[in-house]
Formats: sequence, C-alpha cells, structure tokens
Amino acid sequence: MTADALDRPSGAAAAAAAAGPTASRADADAAPMVEIVGVHKMFGDLHVLKGVDLEVPRGSVCVVLGPSGSGKSTLLRCINELEDLTAGRIYVDGDLIGYREVEKNGTKRLHRLHPKVIAEQRSRIGMVFQRFNLFPHMTALQNVMEAPVQVRGLSRAKAKERAEELLARVGLADRMDHYPAQLSGGQQQRVAIARALAMDPELMLFDEPTSALDPELVGEVLAVMRDLAESGMTMIVVTHEIGFAREVGDHVVFMDDGAIVEQGDPREVLTNPREERTREFLAHVL
Ligand SMILES: Nc1ncnc2c1ncn2[C@@H]1O[C@H](COP(=O)(O)OP(=O)(O)OP(=O)(O)O)[C@@H](O)[C@H]1O
Ligand SMILES: [Mg+2]
Repeated sequence: MTADALDRPSGAAAAAAAAGPTASRADADAAPMVEIVGVHKMFGDLHVLKGVDLEVPRGSVCVVLGPSGSGKSTLLRCINELEDLTAGRIYVDGDLIGYREVEKNGTKRLHRLHPKVIAEQRSRIGMVFQRFNLFPHMTALQNVMEAPVQVRGLSRAKAKERAEELLARVGLADRMDHYPAQLSGGQQQRVAIARALAMDPELMLFDEPTSALDPELVGEVLAVMRDLAESGMTMIVVTHEIGFAREVGDHVVFMDDGAIVEQGDPREVLTNPREERTREFLAHVL
C-alpha cells in the first residue's frame, strides 16, 4: 500500500484543501488543529496502525490510552513526521503534512515535500518524550535557547530572554544554570517542556511524559501540563495517568492493536466504557 492508494479524505480540512490554497487558510480557523484520516503505518510486514481517524479541535486536550504496543507512540511520531505514512493523511492547522497534493489529468497524487519544508512543518509541533532527551553538556537555559537560535536564527539575547521566561513558567527560575545531571527527573522533564515551548508550537505532543519519573515527581510535571492546557494549547497526551485524563482531557481515545477502539468524553469513557477491551485496560491501570 502506498500513500497514493488511499481513499480521498473527508472532513473540514480536506474540503478546505480541495477548495484551493486561499480557502485552505481562510477556513483553517474553523478546521480542527489536527485531522487524521485513514492512517496506516507498516514496518515491513508489521501492520502497526490500521486505519486511524481522529480529530483534535483547537485548544483541546486529547488523551490517548492503550496497552503497550498498541501504536500510541507511532501515531504521535506520524503526526510529528518522524515516520512517513503507509497510507492516509494528517492535517495540522489545515495543512497536509509531509506531502503536497498534485492533480494531473483528473488524478490526485501525493508528492513528498522537500525535507526543508518538512522540517519547517515539524518545528511548529512540540514533542516531549518519556526520556527527557536534554543535551547533557548544556545547562537548562542553553537547552531551551538552542533550537530558537540554531533553527529560527533568533539572536542569543532574545532567545535567552524567552528561555528565562519559559523556565520561570515551568517553575525553574532558580535552576537555569544547572546541567541535566544536576536536576531531578521532574525538573528535567519541565526543562524539556520549556524547550519545546521555545519554538512557539501550535500543537504539543506528549509521549508518556511522566512514566519514567519517581511517583513523587509526577505531580509537578502534570501541573505544568495542566497549566499549558489552561492557556489554550492544543495537546495530544499519551499517558497512563487516568486522573489527568479525567480532569484535564477534553477527549479520550483508547487504542488497541493499531486502531481506536473507543473514544469520547473522558468522564463517559473512563467511568462507563462500552468496549470490553477498554474495560479490561482500565481495570488494569486503575
Ligand atoms: N521503527 C520500528 N520498526 C519496527 N517496528 C516498530 C518500530 N516502531 C514501533 N514498532 C512496533 O510497532 C508496534 C507499536 O509500537 P508503539 O511504540 O507505537 O506502541 P506503544 O503503544 O507506544 O507502546 P508502549 O506503551 O510500550 O510505548 C510495536 O509492535 C512495535 O514493536
Ligand atoms: Mg509508546
């Protein structure tokens, strides 16, 4: 299966895209921040995502739950263009990501975008991983300044000012000159969040941001994430923190075996799951 082989997309972003570039931008505000349409991902013969459809409205928090190996990280990596799709489409802020659609003789074909354009698209999406992946030889401040200076060409003075602001926002005003090895796991993860925010993303992806932390450090990271959600950031969060899903999530998705088995309002899905697989999973993590 190739990306060309998929069905024509449906939905607001797709309709806007079909109407041409001007309409695409004008209608983008009404479109969801993320629209995932019929996404499949194969690693060789291994079918990891089996037709995922999902819409994430602007300013909302979507929590993704599911057992190990169900494809949660792969889905985030596809949104962030760290993986190419086997089939399907992903729109972020109304833009088809990774590909350009070209119509020739009545047939629409997808062409992979230039790596530079992909890098530009990716820089609008912030990602936070389970392992914080900070640069060990750089202080917290330098970690947060790095991408705006290197990728965006921001002056060091401007980047420093912004990094200080962001580190204060995640409660690390007094730790800016510490190296990662001198910080707790919770502090390192908050630096990682500040680092992602330094690129002014329109979307933040979190892949089990608290599961490598000692239990007493989980709360401080979730508090920063809750704060970010309240500020209106669109977020997709893979986590096993059911309390967070219930209190901060606007939408919860339960994945199993490469597909979305059940989704809806967290209060509904988490208290009253319809599917047996969701029930089993919740019984296991609660
Ligand atoms: N680069 C890769 N090459 C081959 N197989 C992969 C690759 N990345 C992931 N997989 C496989 O895809 C499946 C889904 O993996 P994924 O990491 O998305 O699951 P997950 O839901 O995030 O699991 P976990 O909760 O353990 O993080 C697994 O079977 C995994 O082994
Ligand atoms: Mg994972």
